[in-house]
Amino acid sequence: MMQPQSTDTRSKALVDPFGRTITYLRLSVTDRCDLRCTYCMPERMKFLPRADLLTLEELERLVRAFMRRGVKKLRLTGGEPLLRKDVSALISRLGKDVYSGALEEMTVTTNGAQLAKYASALADAGVKRINVSLDTLDPKKFEQVTRRAVLHDVLTGIETAQRYGISIKLNVVALKDLNEKEIPSIILWAHQRGIDVSLIEIMPMGEIDANRLEQYLPLSSVKDRLEKDWTLTPLAYRTGGPSRYVKVEETSGRIGFITPLTQNFCDGCNRVRLTCTGRLYMCLGQDDAFDFRTLMRNGASDNDIDDAILAAISHKPKGHDFTITRECSSPSVSRQMSVTGG
Ligand code: 5AD
Ligand code: SF4
Repeated sequence: MMQPQSTDTRSKALVDPFGRTITYLRLSVTDRCDLRCTYCMPERMKFLPRADLLTLEELERLVRAFMRRGVKKLRLTGGEPLLRKDVSALISRLGKDVYSGALEEMTVTTNGAQLAKYASALADAGVKRINVSLDTLDPKKFEQVTRRAVLHDVLTGIETAQRYGISIKLNVVALKDLNEKEIPSIILWAHQRGIDVSLIEIMPMGEIDANRLEQYLPLSSVKDRLEKDWTLTPLAYRTGGPSRYVKVEETSGRIGFITPLTQNFCDGCNRVRLTCTGRLYMCLGQDDAFDFRTLMRNGASDNDIDDAILAAISHKPKGHDFTITRECSSPSVSRQMSVTGG
């Protein structure tokens, strides 16, 4: 008797139309933040109504659907992920998948202000590394860029996390005038503490009060300046992301350069982003998204969710189209980074 041909494609990996395998999900768990970075949001940011956010169960259900499709790395972002009240429960539930090996890695991107409080829970859930956003070590400038005077809390958060054995990477957005001169000393400070640094070029996302062109500092010029004092050796080391790394021979520490504007980084993209409202963005720099919240709230089965994931990935675009020019310094995409997650 002839066996029916198997139509089960449900264990296959997610491969996009450009042959990139998607193994990395970035999950924004809240759009709220306790800081108001000038390049990220306006002072009077309007946050989403709570009913718009996915519940913990919905978040977890989606993460598991992606895991069944081969997603191995998860990053919790926001807004500020540690502001979500039930984040500890989510972290500890997903932590079980880290211990079982179902997830290779769970990481967090945080502004660090609440980190001291959560460091032990993160370490318990198997979180081994986190990214902390910190653009300056000067308390006055910190307040100028974040509109909040909490540098001390961030530094305590970093120390506490290190004590729990979590390794830290600093995310530093390069900002003309604000930290242009300070970048070498931030790098030294970090490398002395065993902390790597990622330098990030500002991206035109969402309406803010400030003019981005005035804040924009190309990393090519930062790098030229660093090379005057230091020997920077390019490294093959990659984290699957857009960062290109160098080793500073003088400190033995690493610097990553994330340069969406001066150098396109999309070819090796292995990631998609899910917002706190359940919208799946195939690219940080494009406005196309698929709405999983409506699908789930209309009673979708796990197979329906799986079909939607496949359909969404089949639309992943080749790359972003960010630009900042004098003629066009308005946002290339309309949403803030705090909605999609960095
Ligand atoms: N451009 C570049 N980086 C940004 N971040 C937030 N908004 C922007 C933007 N418009 C950074 C944060 C954080 C990371 C997740 O993204 O500082 O480090
Ligand atoms: Fe908050 Fe991060 Fe945006 Fe700053 S950049 S306001 S810390 S979400």
